[in-house]
Amino acid sequence: MEKISRKYIPNKFGDKFSIIKESRSFKEFYSLWENTKNKKPFMLGRLRVVITNFCNLNCAYCFNEGVKKNANFINPADLDFILKSINRKIKDIKITGGEPLLHPQIKEVIDICCKYKNTSITTNGLLLKKFTAVLNKSKIDYIRLTLDRPYFENFRGGMIDSNKFNLIKGGIKSMAKPVAVNMVITKNNINDIDNMITFCENMGIKKLSLISLIKFNKYIDSVYVSPLKIEEKLNKMSNSHKVVSNSRKSYQLKNIIVDLVWQYCTLGCNICKTDGFIRVTTDNKFKYCLGEKTEISFKKELNDRDSKGLMNKFDNAISKLGDFSN
Ligand SMILES: C[S@@+](CC[C@H](N)C(=O)[O-])C[C@H]1O[C@@H](n2cnc3c(N)ncnc32)[C@H](O)[C@@H]1O
Ligand code: SF4
Repeated sequence: MEKISRKYIPNKFGDKFSIIKESRSFKEFYSLWENTKNKKPFMLGRLRVVITNFCNLNCAYCFNEGVKKNANFINPADLDFILKSINRKIKDIKITGGEPLLHPQIKEVIDICCKYKNTSITTNGLLLKKFTAVLNKSKIDYIRLTLDRPYFENFRGGMIDSNKFNLIKGGIKSMAKPVAVNMVITKNNINDIDNMITFCENMGIKKLSLISLIKFNKYIDSVYVSPLKIEEKLNKMSNSHKVVSNSRKSYQLKNIIVDLVWQYCTLGCNICKTDGFIRVTTDNKFKYCLGEKTEISFKKELNDRDSKGLMNKFDNAISKLGDFSN
């Protein structure tokens, strides 16, 4: 099959596509693009609320949700006002960071999000045990835990020793809420997928998402594994899958649902926009994918407590979802 290469990329994408190194067959990619291009803008946004850019780890591959790493925490009263203003136009909420469990008012933040929409939280798990009661008593739907591998050696580039790994495992065991695992696939852990599935089974985890890397630094180049390779591996492990969205395929392996999250171009392809994700940052902006430069600041509206103005800004952000013209 013909593979996509730079010369096939429609001009409209311009330099945004220069980072594509490999993709699916040209035919498949092109039909996906056509499909995306003709889609009506999303009416409902799927919010990723970056409640802090502060973290207790420093993973070499971390894109930090495209925000600077200096400590900054979303103010709960501001968050409440933002969500109240745009509630009608959001489908669900993911709380993320940085490490969200480092937020000094995490309980309040979770309660606020849950008041408005179905909410999940993504964490590196180091503080899961500490916040067991807060999470279990909250209305949060599920916890998404990022694990590189099912054992501690070289876990997150050697930042986790056996004590910390046991702490994470203890946290998982104490969770009354469902836990899903994110495993970012690199050359270092691609052969651990099988073991991770067994780990999930043993820990009572039902869902594993294999995340292909978004490339943005030299370290990632050195450990990068193409999503095609991950897909090949999964196809060998299972003979059927479901297409969940433009960026996601889902396999049933043993008793675990295993998703492959495909970063198409790795930066700026816009396909992720068709999945409807919009980030809310700690510096009061709406943002899309990390390669997309557009930022819509709502600082003034927030300071003035101008709910209508904030809604207009969000409408503006939503109207660009699925839009390939900019
Ligand atoms: C930025 S982290 C924030 C939440 C939390 N600190 C954690 O690690 O789960 C959110 C997710 O993005 C993933 N991630 C970070 N850098 C990435 C990259 N370059 N490509 C793909 N996923 C990445 C992380 O592994 C994690 O699952
Ligand atoms: S724990 Fe999460 S936010 Fe922190 S450095 Fe790692 S991926 Fe980034």
